[in-house]
Amino acid sequence: RTVRRGSSCGRLKVADVDVVAIAAQHGTPAYVVDEADFRARARAFATAFDAAFADLCGGADVYYAGKAFLCTEVARWVVQEGLSLDTCTGGELAVALRAQVPPSRIGLHGNNKSDAEIGRALDAGIGRIVVDAPSEIDRVADLARERGVRAPVLLRVTVGVEAHTHSYIATAHEDQKFGLSLSGGQARAAVAQVLARPELELRGLHSHIGSQIFDVQGFEIAARRVLGLHAKVATEHGVVLPELDLGGGFGIAYTTQHDPLAPTDLAGGLAEIVGKECADLGVDVPRISVEPGRAIAGPSTFTLYSVGTVKDVDLDGGGRRRYVAVDGGMSDNIRTALYDADYSATLANRRSDAEPVLSRVVGKHCESGDIVVKDEFLPSDVGPGDLLAVPGTGAYCRSMASQYNHVPRPPVLAARDGQVRVLVRRETEDDLLALDLG
Ligand code: LLP
Repeated sequence: RTVRRGSSCGRLKVADVDVVAIAAQHGTPAYVVDEADFRARARAFATAFDAAFADLCGGADVYYAGKAFLCTEVARWVVQEGLSLDTCTGGELAVALRAQVPPSRIGLHGNNKSDAEIGRALDAGIGRIVVDAPSEIDRVADLARERGVRAPVLLRVTVGVEAHTHSYIATAHEDQKFGLSLSGGQARAAVAQVLARPELELRGLHSHIGSQIFDVQGFEIAARRVLGLHAKVATEHGVVLPELDLGGGFGIAYTTQHDPLAPTDLAGGLAEIVGKECADLGVDVPRISVEPGRAIAGPSTFTLYSVGTVKDVDLDGGGRRRYVAVDGGMSDNIRTALYDADYSATLANRRSDAEPVLSRVVGKHCESGDIVVKDEFLPSDVGPGDLLAVPGTGAYCRSMASQYNHVPRPPVLAARDGQVRVLVRRETEDDLLALDLG
């Protein structure tokens, strides 16, 4: 899996399948998931967290954050590997239910849930609804009452931590749309509001501080603050909340610049923090849960593209830049344009010893920001018909894909033991035209 910069590593295989055969049979662009790798990452989280929290609170629950990438088969994989599933819209919930994820293992998030979404969650009897606003408390309670059920809820608390990540994906500072503010007293008031409604069962508090985070320190402050409220609920209301969710956001290596924590180190670090804080506060450790998405889905997948036009451009200050255009782009990976994200690319269909040239991998869309990989050394003989693989595209690429310029969205293929299966088929022009009623 290591890609040597400045050269090609020969004809690539994934799970014993040759990528040239994948391209020939399924076309490009395509997202290719290494199923065993995805499952192993999911399992590693479940095992590591359960082990790290075994002595503190009898284990931990890992909810796979479906927003990173979700389809029916992936929902089944995570359940088979011992995880639960976090959804954040009616659409994601529909996938979870279609995959027959046990309802008790489904969570529903969202800062603006509709009554229909909440109703569907209640009808299905899902395990938890993470409430995000004071007005939502009464809506969930009313909808539960109409149905004669009790809704298990968590309260999403904004702990006021600045996560060191891109501002669009940092979520725990005060001036953003998610959660109930801790410092402003909104979270405390929300606890009282929930406890006053018999149709609601307050399962615990929730905190998510952002995404692509590499240090445990951010979680330390968040855990301290949210546990502070957890302890207050016990003293002020005499209610011991059984759960606490610390969210997701565990970073991955898109390029060699990043050095992510292994799930065992992460789980061990969080267990130490939670254990210490609870001891200081004199409270029992609640059942802990976390919600990783990217760390499970991201590294398991690469996008396979075909190279088209290759062009050299003279730069203003001297020098040249090579533009290698592929048959997809910002419609299948918006992350470079949106977050200035870093990716790498490698020639995937053959070995080349040609001299490496600083190249930019771009797409086929009608704007200059349509960049997939900002800078990569690709062999100088890369040209039309070659295949490029861009690793680390399993999270937030297919799930944020668009049909910009009427480019149909690529399929998601799973490679396992020498076989390829289509998990999500390629969209066709007919699919797109079918929506257009003329
Ligand atoms: N839990 C909650 C409440 C979340 O909001 C998120 C992500 C997660 C868990 C999972 O975070 P992860 O472990 O995957 O980082 N589109 C952006 C990421 C947005 C994340 C939104 N919430 C990207 O492409 O980087």
